[in-house]
Parts: sequence; C-alpha cells; structure tokens
Amino acid sequence: MGDPETGSGVNWMKRQLVKSSHHQKKSSFHIWFKFLLLLCLMLFIFGYTLLSSSLSGWQGFPLHHHYYSVFNWTNLVNLPSRFYVNLIKTHETTQPPTVTQCHQAYPGNYHFIMDNPEVCKTNTPFLVLMVPVAPNNREARDAIRQTWGNDTVVHGKVVLTLFMLGLPGGADAGQQKEKLNQENLEHHDLIQSDFMDTYLNLTIKTMVIMDWLATRCPTAAYAMKIDSDMFLNIDNLVTMLQKPGIPKLNYLTGMLMWNKPIRSKSSKWYVSEELYPDSEYPAYALGMGYVFSNDLPGKFVQVSKSIKPFNIEDAYIGMCMKKLGLAPTSPPNPSQFKSYNTKYNRCEFSKVITYILGSSQELIKYWTDLKKPEPPC
Ligand SMILES: *[C@@H]1O[C@H](CO)[C@@H](O)[C@H](O)[C@H]1NC(C)=O
Ligand SMILES: *[C@@H]1O[C@H](CO)[C@@H](O)[C@H](O)[C@H]1NC(C)=O
Ligand SMILES: *[C@@H]1O[C@H](CO)[C@@H](O)[C@H](O)[C@H]1NC(C)=O
Repeated sequence: MGDPETGSGVNWMKRQLVKSSHHQKKSSFHIWFKFLLLLCLMLFIFGYTLLSSSLSGWQGFPLHHHYYSVFNWTNLVNLPSRFYVNLIKTHETTQPPTVTQCHQAYPGNYHFIMDNPEVCKTNTPFLVLMVPVAPNNREARDAIRQTWGNDTVVHGKVVLTLFMLGLPGGADAGQQKEKLNQENLEHHDLIQSDFMDTYLNLTIKTMVIMDWLATRCPTAAYAMKIDSDMFLNIDNLVTMLQKPGIPKLNYLTGMLMWNKPIRSKSSKWYVSEELYPDSEYPAYALGMGYVFSNDLPGKFVQVSKSIKPFNIEDAYIGMCMKKLGLAPTSPPNPSQFKSYNTKYNRCEFSKVITYILGSSQELIKYWTDLKKPEPPC
C-alpha cells in the first residue's frame, strides 16, 4: 500500500504539479505587487513635480485673485473637483482680464453725462431719494415730481429727489437725448451715465447711483434707492429715520429678504451659475426701496471692485454689505415696507412707507386722496 504521503507515483506527480503551480502563482504575484508599488511611487513623484512646478509657474502670473487663490494647498485638499474646473478656466485666461470684463458693475468704468453737481451744495439734504428710471419714462418722473418727489422739506428736513438714467437705446436715441436735456433744464433733477439702460444692466445703474452719492453728495445723512413704480409715504420715512436708535453709519434697511438665486431660465430674475455660483444670497433688502446711511455708497463702490457682478442689483448690494462685514437691519416697524397691495385703503396708506403700484396714474390718484384734509383712519 505504501506511504500515503508519498503515495503512488501518480499521486506524487499530482502533488508536485499542484505545489509548483502554487509556487508559480505566488512568485508572479510578488513580481506584480512590486511592479505596481513602483508604478505608484513613480506616478506620485511625477505628479508631485508637475504640480509644484505649475504652482511656482502660476504664481508669476498677475491673475485675478479668484483664480489665483485656487492654487492653495488648503483648497486643493478640500476641493479637488473645483481645482480642475478652475485650472481649465485659468488656462483660458492667460491674459489678465481687464477691469471691464471682471467688474462690469464697478462705476469707475462709466461717466456722467448729466450730473447736477450743485444740487447738494446749495442745501445739504437730510435724505436723497434716488430713482432709477428708463430714459423714455417721462410719465413716471412727472408723476413722482407731483407727488412724493415734490416734498422738498419734510418735518423740517431737506429731502432731494433725483432720477438716474443710462443711455437710451433704439432708433430715436438722438431725439430722446435732446428731450432729456430739455427736461433737465426745466427740473435740474436728472443724473445720466454712459452705460446702456437695459434690464440686465440694473446693477450698473445702482452702482452708478452709489458713485454719484459718494462723489456729488457726501454730506447728505441718508439716501434711498427707490423704484419709479413705488408709492412712498415720505413723512413716515423721515419720521422713522429721526427715531432715536437709528444708526447714522453702516445702516441699511427695507423689506429684508433671504432667498436663493433662481435657476429657471424663464424667470425675470434668472441668474446663471456662472454669474452667481453660490446656492444662496446673503441677507438683502428688496430693491423696490431700501434706505441707507450715506457713508455706505463710497464703501460699496470700493468693495464692488472685488465682487463679481450679476444682474440682481439688490442681492448684489447684499453681497457688498457682506463683504464689508455688515448686514441689513430690520426696520423699526417691518410692516411699513410693503410690496404689493390688493386694494387702495387710505388708512393703510397713511401708515406704511412703501407699496408697489401698478401705474403712474394710480400714484397720482392715491396721493391726492391721501392728502385730503380729513383724518385717514
Ligand atoms: C489658503 O486657503 C485657506 C482657506 O481657503 C486660507 O485660509 C489661506 O489663507 C490660504 N493661503 C494662501 C497662501 O492664500
Ligand atoms: C409742489 O409743492 C409746492 C410747494 O412746495 C406746491 O406749491 C405745489 O402745488 C406742489 N405741486 C403739486 C403738483 O402738488
Ligand atoms: C450694459 O452696458 C454696457 C455699457 O454700456 C454695454 O456694453 C452692455 O451691452 C450692456 N449690457 C446689456 C446686457 O445690456
């Protein structure tokens, strides 16, 4: 029978075959493992030298801060995918982008065509109302001139109302220019800058307003950006600003908003991810009417150099506030900043500060009614 270990010749042969194949597998595994290890090491060294050389190479480029800051080990470790996206972008931007491309909203890029620089010098205003309006919308300007814009002294305080326009477009631009000069000769209340007056350029319009306030009217105490389709109870606004405890500096108030960029292309407020990549806006005051201490416009102009513009002007001002380390303040009575109203109510209109209206005729009608001598409530 013999030793089961040695077994028959056939069994022995089998065992040797199994043994040798085991041995072969083992040794080829060793070789492969060593090879892979070496490959990994080589790849690591290769990658490291490539990266460090590109790092030192890119540091010599005068790139925009946004791109430059991406080449930072902290960011690399945390945000690998963003790194690659930005690396591609950086390759496309071998030339440093010009100020206009990067900071289209920076008002230093534009020039005043009409600026009435004397209006703040003769009588230092307590409050300046700045109304962005389309160049051809004379109707809205005239309605405001007859209503809340006609009140030049409110509770003993000087209030100034001015209209901000860009360049008119269209075939009759030359004709409109002549009309605007005429209108300004009559009222001395038009401020015009040389950017195209379009919906998507509203952020430029707001920043040009800030530039005008900072350079032409720095002595005013407060200012308000108010849309041309608004009802403004100017008495209540001046009363609010005179309340004890209302800050004289770094103050911005209105109807506060906390929301996200709208990514639906059909929306009027659509903002692409390219223009505004974050998923939320900082706190901001709705653009229909926000009030601020007049130290802020100069600070907004300064800080706007480093904030990428996007087409939502009120959220852009929110970004400027955030960058300055500030936040908008809730008004003493938040229910005074109203947006849409369902129906005119005299008592209600006597208590609020803002309301959005449907037309200039409505403004004149409601204002006339509100000013009747009998008590509103
Ligand atoms: C790198 O990024 C981190 C966080 O983003 C930042 O705190 C640090 O200052 C950056 N370093 C340089 C050299 O830019
Ligand atoms: C505008 O105000 C003046 C007084 O400052 C007044 O005489 C005039 O009637 C007002 N105009 C309108 C249209 O209310
Ligand atoms: C905004 O204004 C600038 C400067 O006038 C102009 O070049 C640009 O086409 C305008 N943009 C839009 C979207 O109207």
